[in-house]
Amino acid sequence: MKVVVVGSGGREHAICDTLVREGHEVIATPGNPGISRVATVTDLHPEELNADLFVVGPEAPLVDGLADRLRAENKITFGPGRDGSQLEGSKEFMKKLAAQAGVPTARFASFSDSAPALAYLESMTAPYVIKTDGLAAGKGVLVTRDMALARADVVAKLSGSSFGAAGHRVIIEEAMSGPEVSLMVLVDGKRALALQPATDHKRLYDGDGGPNTGGMGAYSPVGWFLDDQVSLAMDLIVNPVIARMIELGIDYRGILYAGLMVCESGPKLVEFNVRFGDPEAQVVVPALEGSLGELLYGAATGELPQGIARGSQAAAAVVMAAPGYPESPKTGGRIEGVDGFSDRSDLRIYHAGTRRAPTGELLVGGGRVLSVTGFGDSIDAAIKKAYLGLSSIHFEGAQFRSDIGASSTSA
Ligand code: AMP
Ligand code: GLY
Repeated sequence: MKVVVVGSGGREHAICDTLVREGHEVIATPGNPGISRVATVTDLHPEELNADLFVVGPEAPLVDGLADRLRAENKITFGPGRDGSQLEGSKEFMKKLAAQAGVPTARFASFSDSAPALAYLESMTAPYVIKTDGLAAGKGVLVTRDMALARADVVAKLSGSSFGAAGHRVIIEEAMSGPEVSLMVLVDGKRALALQPATDHKRLYDGDGGPNTGGMGAYSPVGWFLDDQVSLAMDLIVNPVIARMIELGIDYRGILYAGLMVCESGPKLVEFNVRFGDPEAQVVVPALEGSLGELLYGAATGELPQGIARGSQAAAAVVMAAPGYPESPKTGGRIEGVDGFSDRSDLRIYHAGTRRAPTGELLVGGGRVLSVTGFGDSIDAAIKKAYLGLSSIHFEGAQFRSDIGASSTSA
């Protein structure tokens, strides 16, 4: 099959790499230096390309309607249209749809003016949870016990000073507590197929300290979230939302990523994303039992089997981030030690924020730079492999966590 993959992150590198290893011909737009080593990369727009399947990786083009435009040209496309993408594009839309579907999630209210927002905030008990309504690259959420900080965040978001237009509406939520798990399911318009769950480490520092990031590492499977919990989450959260979307006339074909918190009363929905998680994709996609290409094509054409798509191996990914990430990543540093791993199936290095200098050197080009992913018979083996790989890669000021996977067996 000839597949066009849209995107340039670690998630897209993992998708391209896995499809190529399955024998598919892959063209990535725009791709990145890592993808260019396994597939063809082009700056042509996806609408100018032809292929048997189009896979749209990131949320921004989905929210912008790229999947609708491709389907309008009869291109078989994996990725929801503009309507379904509102599940990620607007937290207010997501929360309302979840409420209509009877899905357990935190109580919330949304505001575009600061006076009522601050009054509502005063009525809440700590910790306070404040979110931008629109897309903010995983960084639009503040969870804090400090009321002064919470008030300042509401004002900054609503004034547009912290997140521009994405922050012009804020959501203030009841705080939930419990371990988090990422349940990604393939959806073919009618049915869902759960992928093996993964856990993401969102905070910058070891022990879950420091600011929220897009994700500093991930592992899969999750020893404390097995098939019976997946079935419960499908019954309580995913399937009711798909049923409600069908009622609304939304033909959702792509990934639905449910960020769950496992609370005392059971799993609750934190957020939906309309694309694979990053770095969750890097541990789930390459380790899938069965063919990724067939699953993506099945979802895009409405022909998905039901059940759970298990992993054939355990996997752990450690993200190496630029100095200064997430607030102000410093780019331009030279990266060494990456290119020696291309033939290994137990260790894959996925590029995200990298770029090639005209001289051919690999440079830091963004916040999250690489995800170093190890595979093995157990999570422990996968973690060891990932850190072994990481120890031979260098760039100045690299930030990474040294406790990825530490919570893999008990929450
Ligand atoms: P989100 O972008 O909505 O996934 O939020 C980012 C992170 O903030 C989540 O992964 C949680 O760790 C935390 N968070 C979001 N909403 C809540 C909530 N209602 N209660 C507690 N923590 C939350
Ligand atoms: N790792 C979290 C996300 O992709 O949103």
